[in-house]
Amino acid sequence: MTKFLITSALPYVNGVKHLGNLAGSLLPADIHARFRRQTGHEVLFLCGTDEHGTPAELAAQAAGLPVADYCARQHAVQADIYRRFGLSFDHFSRTSGDANRKLTQEIFLALDAAGFIESRTIRQAYSPTDGRFLPDRYIVGTCPHCASPNARGDQCEACTRLLDPADLVNPYSAISGATDIEFRETRHLFLKLAALEGRLRDWLATRCNWPPLVRSIAQKWLDEGLRDRCITRDLDWGVPVPKAGFEDKVFYVWFDAPIGYIAAAAEARDDWRTWWQSDDVRYLQFLAKDNVPFHAISFPATLLGSGLPFKPVDVIKGFNWLTFEGGKFSTSGRRGLFTDTALEACPADCWRWWLAANVPENSDTDFTIERFVDGVNKDLGDVFGNLVNRCLSFAAARFESTVPEPSEPGPLERQLVLALDARLVSLRAHHEALAFRKAAEEVRSIWRLANAYLSEAAPWTVIRTDRKRAATIVHAGQNLVRIAALVAWPFIPFAAKDVLDCIGEPVVWPTATDSLPAGRRIRVPPVLFPKISAACLPPG
Ligand code: 2FM
Ligand code: ZN
Repeated sequence: MTKFLITSALPYVNGVKHLGNLAGSLLPADIHARFRRQTGHEVLFLCGTDEHGTPAELAAQAAGLPVADYCARQHAVQADIYRRFGLSFDHFSRTSGDANRKLTQEIFLALDAAGFIESRTIRQAYSPTDGRFLPDRYIVGTCPHCASPNARGDQCEACTRLLDPADLVNPYSAISGATDIEFRETRHLFLKLAALEGRLRDWLATRCNWPPLVRSIAQKWLDEGLRDRCITRDLDWGVPVPKAGFEDKVFYVWFDAPIGYIAAAAEARDDWRTWWQSDDVRYLQFLAKDNVPFHAISFPATLLGSGLPFKPVDVIKGFNWLTFEGGKFSTSGRRGLFTDTALEACPADCWRWWLAANVPENSDTDFTIERFVDGVNKDLGDVFGNLVNRCLSFAAARFESTVPEPSEPGPLERQLVLALDARLVSLRAHHEALAFRKAAEEVRSIWRLANAYLSEAAPWTVIRTDRKRAATIVHAGQNLVRIAALVAWPFIPFAAKDVLDCIGEPVVWPTATDSLPAGRRIRVPPVLFPKISAACLPPG
């Protein structure tokens, strides 16, 4: 048994997240955590809200609330939504908590003592119109590398390069649109990434099994040469910098946010150090592609440079973008479908299934209402729901709601076991390889195989002449329902659990030869997935 530490990127606290955020880190992380638990491993699955930085400050201002109150409310809203989506975090933390403050300061002091922090005078963007220094994200302009007109001061989303605000061409304030940006002198602290490049290269060389998307982004970064990064900001809200002369500054949000993963463990478990500081733990991170540089470069550099015994990540699974009806999801522009409204329209399992089966793994993927409705109705209604209902209803009607006593299996049952066995092996391998689309395809194939068996064996016809043979088929069908629900469980945990409860079975990883005990009483669930239509869904 291996221990698995699993983290999903911490969503920014401001505002309810859209389906792209769910598909691009939270949901796949949950599916993997469930699979690992189901196969008997010990799992610590962590997430939380990323609460520092200017977006939270400005959103609080707009809401007319003190920032701490705003964050507490928004954290609760997101936590509730994720619970309703079945995201099985062992802990959903907050980066503004005490644990993160202490750990961030401890790691910073260790970096400083090791000589990887340097104080420098920099010229920082200041807007006389806004009357404040402008943190990087609040300066927008043209990217000097790819000429995208919407690059932010910290990063260009179009080409993923990290930027300094001074690099931007034609910069303006994102708060007011003011173009009277001045650069004033102020002292800040820098993480000496360039000095850590050698160690980082050596460490990355040991991570050759990363998915290509993540490796290529990390490699591109290294090839461009690492630049020292400013890790302090002129803000009130954040982790205070524990160094003389910097008492009025806080850490840059991307310095303390990933440390939030460690803090979440510290809040969740007394034995948290064994999760972060021992070799028998496999650490997996799930995140969208714009987050890769922070997780593959700056956070590992922070940990390696600190000399503290925190374990850097073993595998990063990065995702491309989910688009919405041919365009980008946009939180600020409220374009797309958001997690709160999605749950009002359809059960969580419908979203989970479609998003997992179409997860933007190897390229961007377009969500359309039409594809969603069609996929859910076919896979969940016609295939999985139909299998469960026709098999269990027949057993209820003709075998007194029990598992009948089977007699000798025939050729159909023997073939079925062989086919199932191969599919279960392949499904497990896809899960282990973090190949979510292939895993979903395999689940669908198992459901189809089960339906095909029932159609061919046709117990409803056989029972007219041979009740014993019908009993064998129904018993095999009920075993199939169990396997169908068990392989579904990481993807659609609510419906899968309902089905397993009806047949009195716990969540385990199945084998093709498992057999339900004859005589057990079973129940028939209500129709699992009533048909949905585009008319029930918000237009986005
Ligand atoms: O991109 C984002 O949504 C960030 N809030 C992710 C942070 S991940 C971790 F480092 F905290
Ligand atoms: Zn660019």
